[in-house]
Amino acid sequence: MSINISKVRNDFPLLQKEVYEKPYIYFDNAATTYRPLQVLAAEEQIYREFNGNPHRGAHYMSNQTTVHVEAVRDKVQQLINAPAREEIIFTRGATESINLVAYSFGEAFIHEGDEIIVSEMEHHANIVPWQMLCERKKAKLKVLPFDNSGRLMVEELEGLISDKTRIVAVTMVSNVMGVVNPVKQIIETAHQHNIPVLLDAAQWVQHHKTDVQELGCDFMVFSGHKMYGPTGVGCLYGKSKWLEKMPPFLGGGEMIDKVTFDKTTFNTIPYKFEAGTPNFTQIIGLGAAIDYIHELGIENIEVYEKELLDYAYSQLQTVQGIRFFGETEKQSGVISFLVGNIHPYDMGMFLDKMGIAVRTGHHCAEPVMDHFAIHGTIRASFAFYNTNNEIDTFIQAVKKVSAMLA
Ligand code: ALA
Repeated sequence: MSINISKVRNDFPLLQKEVYEKPYIYFDNAATTYRPLQVLAAEEQIYREFNGNPHRGAHYMSNQTTVHVEAVRDKVQQLINAPAREEIIFTRGATESINLVAYSFGEAFIHEGDEIIVSEMEHHANIVPWQMLCERKKAKLKVLPFDNSGRLMVEELEGLISDKTRIVAVTMVSNVMGVVNPVKQIIETAHQHNIPVLLDAAQWVQHHKTDVQELGCDFMVFSGHKMYGPTGVGCLYGKSKWLEKMPPFLGGGEMIDKVTFDKTTFNTIPYKFEAGTPNFTQIIGLGAAIDYIHELGIENIEVYEKELLDYAYSQLQTVQGIRFFGETEKQSGVISFLVGNIHPYDMGMFLDKMGIAVRTGHHCAEPVMDHFAIHGTIRASFAFYNTNNEIDTFIQAVKKVSAMLA
């Protein structure tokens, strides 16, 4: 079965939209995707039919919400093939998930002089929380570099690891360059030294099959809004052997076992990490997004998107003076480029006026810009609802703007 593109496009109301009286072409899916009608309907259904605070009430509405929220935990578990449902924690997004681990793992396991390894191509969300932890604990951040093609230099990992290394945090796909990292190899190397690995799957999970057991990662994070779900919801997968030893991140309702003014004891996982009323509307919307992905089939999505990406690359290569950032054997989801000396903001602004949305700038990954000594790139990022026709229009527009600004 392949993707029925006209049916799929009808599921996304925003794809019918025009801006500046032109059909809108949305190539900023790595920043946030659109949501299908099924996700919108799921969110509306909650407010219309069974709004109630989950886990808290004995009444019908609360129970209904609890059942639906917990069903999504099962769906996330299946999506990433996690061994146990209690290893899935709902957060506000990938950023919060990383902050949770950096804080909570940090409290339990990081001491003065310890070392944390991240890669040079991380999003700020997978750098700054670790820097804050290092500051707090007087620990040290080490960086695994990439080469000029964007390939992560995994052969240098062994040399970076020391008996002080406590965790490695790395992205599965660079949000700037679309480079797919050999995370399995990274995990194997780290595990030989008993070092846990956190994977940032924010640019992976919506495009490819995910299997945390096959990978062996200790933590994985991702966001709902980049996988056709609502904003304000994300997930953290963590091996229970770590989560059980980590203190809570936020304090409040539901994360407790017993509260007195003398002492509070905490709930079991995952609830220990889910303080306060959960964002149940978004969680249930995320469930609908996962159903949608299953309906299309992640394998079909993968094949279709690879064809799109290959086509976009081949066509962009015909643009005079183009320079790509990220040219490895395994690329996914995004293409970053510059044309001659044209400032990315200028290109982005003109494309916008032609009805084409791309992201320009440093993409929240300034170290990647520093690596190439540039201020920013133009980034086109794709989803399964994009088409070759849209790519053709985009290429023509890039050529037109290039001719105009050259
Ligand atoms: N992390 C998102 C991006 O890469 C916002 O655009």
